[in-house]
Amino acid sequence: MTKTTRVAIVGAAGRMGRSLVKAVGEADGLTLGAATERPDSQYIGEDAGVQAGMGRLGVAIAGGLDEVVDAFDLVIDFTAPRATLGHLEICRAAGKGMVIGTTGLGAEERQRLEEGAREIPIVFAPNMSVGVNLCFKLLELAAEVLGDEADIEIIEAHHRHKVDAPSGTALRMGEVVAEALGRDLQACAVYGREGRSGPRERQTIGFETIRAGDIVGEHSVWFALEGERVEIAHKASSRMNFALGAVRAAGWLSTQSPGLYDMQDVLGLK
Ligand SMILES: NC(=O)c1ccc[n+]([C@@H]2O[C@H](COP(=O)([O-])OP(=O)(O)OC[C@H]3O[C@@H](n4cnc5c(N)ncnc54)[C@H](OP(=O)(O)O)[C@@H]3O)[C@@H](O)[C@H]2O)c1
Repeated sequence: MTKTTRVAIVGAAGRMGRSLVKAVGEADGLTLGAATERPDSQYIGEDAGVQAGMGRLGVAIAGGLDEVVDAFDLVIDFTAPRATLGHLEICRAAGKGMVIGTTGLGAEERQRLEEGAREIPIVFAPNMSVGVNLCFKLLELAAEVLGDEADIEIIEAHHRHKVDAPSGTALRMGEVVAEALGRDLQACAVYGREGRSGPRERQTIGFETIRAGDIVGEHSVWFALEGERVEIAHKASSRMNFALGAVRAAGWLSTQSPGLYDMQDVLGLK
């Protein structure tokens, strides 16, 4: 019989948590070993599969990761920075790996992840989409081949509820391009244009933001030259793409030694 990796989903009743329960439930080689929420959550004791809309999985949502530590081999964590650091301590003590998608960690919190990764394997990526991570690699190549000859513009669109702009992914795309060209993004970024903006400076990287309706997330990077234009674009149609990326990371992590990894490692793009 092939060995399956038992996965714990923390924050299992959250938006990503439900997608993750479904993605793990449907993945080859992984089984849902445990699911948790806060101790005072209304979902404690509920079946995680039922909450995710996929029918009973026989895994009741527990009130803390420490309660179910013998039921999993690794954790997928898309919660909040403080919760993630709490889960990190439990996983360090138990010697279990983590796939972390939580965003908004500060420098000190990321330092804690680095310390933890000396003892356990951790994949940490603020965007786990396989397609977006492939785009980062394609952008590096495009910038190396076309960069200094091209006008580079990054256009992104998200739903009307998003509160920050440009998106973290758009900014990361800008960093990837700037790094490949030896430019400092802080110095060369232009965020939108209005009025008499003057002729475009070749060295700049422009950002345009669209906020409308229920768009899940679209990013397009233009490399515009004389007589031609290359576009590298990604369109997300549901948050399942992040969950499937995390599941892929979990399968990869199950055979890794301690260390801090990202999706470029998981996808073999380094
Ligand atoms: N890396 C990526 O690709 C990616 C993609 C999408 C989202 N994200 C990130 O993933 C995180 C979650 O996003 P979301 O949209 O799913 O948010 P969400 O719907 O608020 O889900 C977070 C869940 O975690 C629960 N939680 C908080 N503290 C907990 C604890 N100590 N123990 C167990 N559960 C706890 C929350 O419970 P309460 O409601 O009770 O607080 C909630 O159910 C965010 O940081 C988001 O930016 C990352």
